[in-house]
Amino acid sequence: MKFTHSLSGLVFFLPLLAQVNASPFGGFNNGGFGGNFGGKAGNNAGKGGAAAAKSTDAAASTAAANTAAAAAASSAAAATSVASAAASTASAAADSGDAQSSLTLDPSVIATGFENNGQDVPEAGQVASLTSSNNFINFCATVPNLPITNGQQIKTGSCNPAPMGIIAAQTNMPSSKFSVPVNGQNFGQNQSFTITMAIQNLDTGFFVNANENYFSAPQQVGSSGNIQGHSHVVIEQVKSFTDTTPTDPTKFAFFKGLNAAAVGGVLTADVTDGLLDGVYRLASINTAANHQPALVAVAQHGAMDDMVYFSVGNAAAAGNPFGGSGAAASAAGAAASASAAGAGTAASAAGAAASTSAAAAGAAKSAAPPAAKGGNQGNKGGNNAQGGRGGKPFKLRRESKNRL
Ligand SMILES: *[C@@H]1O[C@H](CO)[C@@H](O)[C@H](O)[C@H]1NC(C)=O
Repeated sequence: MKFTHSLSGLVFFLPLLAQVNASPFGGFNNGGFGGNFGGKAGNNAGKGGAAAAKSTDAAASTAAANTAAAAAASSAAAATSVASAAASTASAAADSGDAQSSLTLDPSVIATGFENNGQDVPEAGQVASLTSSNNFINFCATVPNLPITNGQQIKTGSCNPAPMGIIAAQTNMPSSKFSVPVNGQNFGQNQSFTITMAIQNLDTGFFVNANENYFSAPQQVGSSGNIQGHSHVVIEQVKSFTDTTPTDPTKFAFFKGLNAAAVGGVLTADVTDGLLDGVYRLASINTAANHQPALVAVAQHGAMDDMVYFSVGNAAAAGNPFGGSGAAASAAGAAASASAAGAGTAASAAGAAASTSAAAAGAAKSAAPPAAKGGNQGNKGGNNAQGGRGGKPFKLRRESKNRL
C-alpha cells in the first residue's frame, strides 16, 4: 500500500531530464519527428495516463486539451479549472476495471498536493510550482511544439508523459565509489586499465532498450527497496587537475553502460585501448532501468554518483595535487592508489609507476593523507567536476566504440 501511495503521489514528468540525457547516448535517436508523432497514439494508448487525453477530447468534446494548453500559458488558475473539469469528466467515463490499461485517471492515484503551488510558505526567491489536479496527465499538451519522448532519445528535446514512479526510500539511496582509478592515479599513454566501482543500494543488471524505451516507464524498485537499474561510466578530458571551466557534456573520451550486474558489489569497465596524454575526470551515472536518473525520497542527500580525477602520461601527472608535483607526481599517484584501494587490481593499474618504487617510497608520506581520505576527496571531485572543458580539442577516438 505504500507503493500505491507513492505512485499516486509522485507522478511527474521529465522534460528537462530528457533534454539533458539525450546527448551522452548520441546515435540512438533514430526516429524522426514524424515517427514520434506517428507512434504517439498507439504508445499512449498502452499507458493509460497520457491516453486520458483521448477520453478528455471525446468526453468533454470541448477540445479540453487545447484549451488547457492555452489557459496554462495565460493563467495557472484557469488551467487548473480546465484540468479539473477534464479529470472529473474522465473519472465519470468508462471504467474498464483494469487501472493499467484504462484510459481514465483512477481517482485513487490523484496527488491532491499537486494543486498547491507552495507559495503558502514563502521563501525569498521561491517561485510558484506548476499545479495540477489531474496529475499533469496532459502536461505535454502545453508544449505542442515538442514531440512526445515516446521511448526515443530525441536530441532536440521532447516532452515525457511517463510518471516518475517508485521513489526509493531514504534507506535505499544508491551510492558509488571508484576504486580504480582513485584520485590522482596516473596511467601510461594507451595503457589498458579496468575501471572498478563499488556500488550499493542499486539493484544492477536492469537495463531496457535504450533506443526504444528511453525514459518510457516509471522507476521501479526490487524486493529490498533498491532501485532496479544500472550504471554508466564516462571519462571526459579536462585541462588540468585544477581546471574550473564547465565541461561540454557532448564530448567525452570514453563512455560505457555497465549493463551487467555487479559482482561482489563491484562494477567494472575495461578501457581497453587506454587514453591519450591528459588529465581526465571519471564519473558514474547511476540510473533506473529506463535510463532515468535515480530518484530518491529526500532532497538533501549525499551524491549518488562518484567522480574522480586522474591523469595519463607523465606531463599531465606533473600538476597532480594528490601526489605532490613534478617528476615524483606519477609515482606518488600510483602509491596513493595502491594504498587507497589495497586491491591487486589497483596495484596492477599502477603499472609502470610502480617500478619507480624508490620514488614511491619517498612519496608515500605525502601520498598517504589523500589516500586515507579517498572518500572525501572523491566528493570534492564531484563538486569540482563542474570544472573542466578541455582547451584543445581532444580526440574522441573511442567514442563510437563505447556507447551503451
Ligand atoms: C598511443 O596511440 C596513439 C594513436 O591512437 C599513437 O599516436 C601514440 O603513439 C600511442 N602512444 C604510445 C605511447 O604508444
